[in-house]
Formats: sequence, C-alpha cells, structure tokens
Amino acid sequence: MKSITLDPTWYVNDAAFDWLYPERIQQLSRQHWTPVEVAKKAAKFLASEGGKILDIGSGVGKFCLIGGHHFQEAIFYGVEQRKELYHFAQAAKELTAARNVDFINGNFTQIDFADFDHFYFYNAFFENLVEDGHIDQDMEYSVSLYKYYSRYMFKGLDDKPSGTRLVTYHSLEDEVPPSYQLVDATVDFLLKMWIKR
Ligand SMILES: C[S@@+](CC[C@H](N)C(=O)[O-])C[C@H]1O[C@@H](n2cnc3c(N)ncnc32)[C@H](O)[C@@H]1O
Repeated sequence: MKSITLDPTWYVNDAAFDWLYPERIQQLSRQHWTPVEVAKKAAKFLASEGGKILDIGSGVGKFCLIGGHHFQEAIFYGVEQRKELYHFAQAAKELTAARNVDFINGNFTQIDFADFDHFYFYNAFFENLVEDGHIDQDMEYSVSLYKYYSRYMFKGLDDKPSGTRLVTYHSLEDEVPPSYQLVDATVDFLLKMWIKR
C-alpha cells in the first residue's frame, strides 16, 4: 500500500497541499477545492475576530485546513455530505496535526447555524444545476434540490445577528440575503466578502 508522507510545507501552494490526498482526489482539486491563496484571503476576513467558522460543503477540508493553519485564534468547522470526502478530510487533519479544525459528516441542513459565527461557501449546491463535472455519480441532483438548499441557507444566514461575516466563492448568490452587505471582492468578482447589517 502506498503511504503518504507529510511535506512540512503542505500549506504553501496547491501542488504541495494536494499531496495530502490520493491521486483521484488530487485530480478533482482544480475544479472543486478552493485554491490556497483564495482560502487564505477568505479565512483572514472570516477569522478577524476569532470565533467559530463553518465551511458549508467542506469537501476534503482544504479551506478549513489552510484557514486553521494561518489563523489559530479561530476554530474552523466543515460539514460535508459525502462520507468518503469527510474521511479524506479527517485523514488530512491528522497528517497536518491541526488542532483548531473539526469536520462533520452530514447534510448542512442538519446543522444549527446558531452554533457558528461566520460562514464560508464555495458554491456547494451548483452540482445540482449542471450535467457534468460531478465529484461522483453517487448523489441525486436536481434543480429543486438546488432551490431547497439555497433557500435553507438564505434563511439560516438571515437569522444570524448583525456583524456575521460571510465569504462566497463562485456563487450565484441565491443563498445571500439582502441583509448582507458586500464589503470587499477580488478584481474578478469571484470571491466576495459580506457582513450582515
Ligand atoms: C465546490 S466543493 C468545495 C469544497 C471545500 N469547501 C473547498 O473549498 O475546498 C463543494 C462541496 O460541497 C458538498 N456539498 C454539496 N451539497 C451539500 C450539502 N447539502 N450538505 C453538505 N455538503 C454538501 C459537496 O459534496 C462538495 O464536496
């Protein structure tokens, strides 16, 4: 069996980070996992006051592990519906000895938004709108599921107190309530930072 050795610079760039995972997961990286530089920028904004940060649809844990490494004063949680990806996230957490990172296996609709302070979202529900490029063939996809999840997240975010921070990456913004004010964005407008009024 091939064993994985931890590169002590696992967090410096995408190629180094990918080595925490088997080849099949590495191949999904470019399309499905947040780039290291984007994760750092997003985490800096969300962790500015510490607190509990939730990645909604955390995949193999890339955002949480990069964020947790750079911003030790915050705790990064990730909720992921696919059991296999959750296990890869747990394995990477152990390899990197991350102490302020936790992963939950389940649908985000089982999560109580009241338990978290700030939120990260990399277009997790988009897989319900497209025909190809899926992570696997194990899930049911539908436009109605996209709408249901987007509305559910919208409501969860709308119920949060003023000052709640949100970062969206590649989002169609159906899940962003108008009570969230856009306060910063990258030049390509793919990464957006929001604060609840
Ligand atoms: C684009 S990936 C982003 C992964 C991670 N946040 C990152 O940035 O590296 C979106 C992930 O959301 C997960 N996902 C989609 N719908 C979900 C749901 N309803 N509950 C939990 N996870 C979900 C998918 O399985 C996928 O792993």
